[in-house]
Amino acid sequence: MFFWPRLLAAADSKIGFVGSQPCRTCHPNVTSTFFRNPHHKSTVNESLAPEKQGCESCHGPAKEHVEGRGDKSKIFAFSVKNPRQIVDRCLTCHSETLSRANIRRSEHTRADVVCTNCHSIHKPATPKALLASKQVDLCYQCHPNVRAQFSMPFKHRVNEGFMTCSDCHNPHGTNAPTWRAAGRPRMVDQGLNNEQTCLKCHTDKRGPFVFEHAATRVDGCETCHIPHGSANARLLKRPTAFPLCLECHNGTPGFGRTTEGIPAQSSSHNMADPRYQNCTSCHVRIHGSNSSGKFLR
Ligand code: HEC
Ligand code: HEC
Ligand code: HEC
Ligand code: HEC
Ligand code: HEC
Ligand code: HEC
Ligand code: HEC
Ligand code: HEC
Ligand code: HEC
Ligand code: HEC
Repeated sequence: MFFWPRLLAAADSKIGFVGSQPCRTCHPNVTSTFFRNPHHKSTVNESLAPEKQGCESCHGPAKEHVEGRGDKSKIFAFSVKNPRQIVDRCLTCHSETLSRANIRRSEHTRADVVCTNCHSIHKPATPKALLASKQVDLCYQCHPNVRAQFSMPFKHRVNEGFMTCSDCHNPHGTNAPTWRAAGRPRMVDQGLNNEQTCLKCHTDKRGPFVFEHAATRVDGCETCHIPHGSANARLLKRPTAFPLCLECHNGTPGFGRTTEGIPAQSSSHNMADPRYQNCTSCHVRIHGSNSSGKFLR
């Protein structure tokens, strides 16, 4: 058994693997920094099969490349590969984690934005996750309009560095959401139990409540809030609660045989009275309540 790895290595060298040593002579810049790379681990682990080791684990068998004194056509050169080939190559090792389970059908992959657009193996700007540049800068390169959204008067403090895009998004794609049944996930990440990502931080909104507000539990936080930033306090979609609530609580009858629609305010509400227009001054537990079915306490 002891001879197995050596024998295998010997057999494989015939089909074109040479190990990482020969690369040093001609690619000193790349090799001299490689010991810092998390992928270096496999370079020194000789019990791995040659196609899992070092440079050749990504660039493929290099014998002909070396013998050809650097023939670019004889090596897996990322610079000339198409997006699908790149994804396939990286996923030979990185397909096992949950965080990338949906990467093949993510909006990014479908738009040909792949691993090497965001990650830089040899010149990473961040030691963690080998990103090509600092995360927000990376995302703003292609999503410049989002920067303005995080500069609104009310916002999550992303531009200030208190949180970042991947606190809410998974750039590798996400599962179908369990809320907003018909809505597209927009690569919004899920929290525990596949719940809305917002609840990771806003735990007091998690419930379960004895009395759930269907708008929160079923439609999701974005029904009433603009998650990036808003001109309205509390990141609300409308300047005040009044027009927001009336979008649903307006007395429009339901359709189908069983639904009665969403209840309108009862007749005790005098809409002409400014006091009544401030809905959340009475309906204070608008996200759900354990003691009032009308969310009054
Ligand atoms: C984890 C996969 C991976 C490993 C391991 C890897 N590379 Fe690369 N290499 C890449 C990718 C991806 C690119 C394309 C440029 C980029 O995104 O950084 C690249 C680009 C290159 C380039 C051309 C661009 C440049 O920066 O000069 C050379 C040469 C190179 N690699 C050599 C090596 C050598 C030598 C090793 C071993 C010490 C190695 N690579 C290990 C993924 C890898
Ligand atoms: C004898 C010198 C020599 C050796 C040894 C050598 N290379 Fe190269 N390599 C080159 C040259 C020269 C180029 C540039 C070819 C070109 O641009 O047409 C190159 C290009 C590459 C590229 C393509 C870069 C691109 O533009 O995308 C990769 C990847 C690469 N080498 C990896 C390796 C790896 C891995 C090894 C070790 C197994 C290795 N090379 C060993 C000379 C060498
Ligand atoms: C749109 C940009 C983007 C693309 C495309 C992308 N990533 Fe990432 N990736 C990131 C960001 C940002 C992080 C850091 C997340 C964090 O800090 O929580 C990350 C983290 C990672 C990590 C470390 C953390 C983890 O989730 O295990 C690995 C490994 C990784 N990516 C591999 C890949 C591979 C492989 C591909 C292609 C199949 C890929 N990524 C495509 C942006 C991207
Ligand atoms: C031969 C298997 C293999 C291949 C191919 C491979 N990786 Fe990795 N990758 C690893 C291993 C092993 C680690 C180290 C994981 C650890 O330390 O937990 C790693 C780490 C990473 C990390 C850093 C994770 C962190 O937590 O900081 C990123 C990012 C990454 N790989 C991206 C890529 C990309 C992009 C490609 C394709 C260009 C690629 N990998 C190809 C095996 C591979
Ligand atoms: C507080 C959580 C949160 C943070 C932080 C966040 N997002 Fe979002 N983002 C969301 C949610 C939720 C949606 C879906 C909104 C909807 O569908 O109504 C979204 C939608 C998007 C969209 C698609 C809709 C559009 O406006 O084009 C893009 C692109 C986007 N975010 C990029 C980013 C980038 C880039 C960052 C970091 C600079 C970021 N997001 C940070 C929660 C967040
Ligand atoms: C190389 C360019 C590029 C980079 C870098 C990039 N994106 Fe994207 N992103 C795109 C493209 C292209 C699309 C698909 C078309 C669109 O909706 O704009 C997209 C779509 C999205 C969407 C919307 C998905 C949907 O369902 O509509 C979100 C959210 C998003 N990206 C977040 C991010 C985050 C977060 C980062 C940084 C980690 C990032 N992107 C980095 C190009 C990029
Ligand atoms: C990583 C933690 C985190 C996540 C995830 C998160 N938030 Fe926040 N949120 C905060 C913090 C912290 C504040 C306080 C304002 C600040 O310091 O930026 C805040 C503020 C708010 C506010 C305004 C509160 C006020 O008093 O004005 C609303 C509304 C809000 N978040 C909704 C959401 C929604 C909706 C989501 C999901 C799309 C979400 N948050 C995801 C951390 C988070
Ligand atoms: C039906 C509309 C609606 C939905 C859905 C909704 N909110 Fe709110 N939210 C509001 C209103 C209205 C306010 C302002 C309350 C006030 O004026 O006191 C608010 C305030 C907040 C605040 C700041 C004040 C506080 O109570 O902490 C946070 C944080 C918040 N919401 C998070 C969330 C999260 C997270 C979700 C999803 C789980 C969500 N909201 C879903 C309407 C909604
Ligand atoms: C996205 C639509 C939507 C929005 C916006 C919305 N709600 Fe609701 N609300 C509902 C639905 C659906 C129910 C559950 C109705 C049922 O059980 O028949 C409900 C239930 C209620 C109830 C309990 C009614 C009862 O008799 O059980 C109150 C009170 C209420 N909402 C107040 C508000 C207030 C105040 C606002 C504004 C901050 C608001 N809602 C915004 C959809 C919405
Ligand atoms: C002054 C306090 C107060 C204000 C302000 C207020 N409500 Fe109410 N609301 C109540 C009380 C008390 C009840 C339960 C008793 C009743 O039905 O009259 C109630 C009940 C409701 C119900 C349930 C009706 C039903 O038939 O089950 C809805 C829906 C509702 N309110 C929506 C709203 C909306 C939308 C606003 C803002 C336009 C609003 N309320 C403002 C006190 C208030």
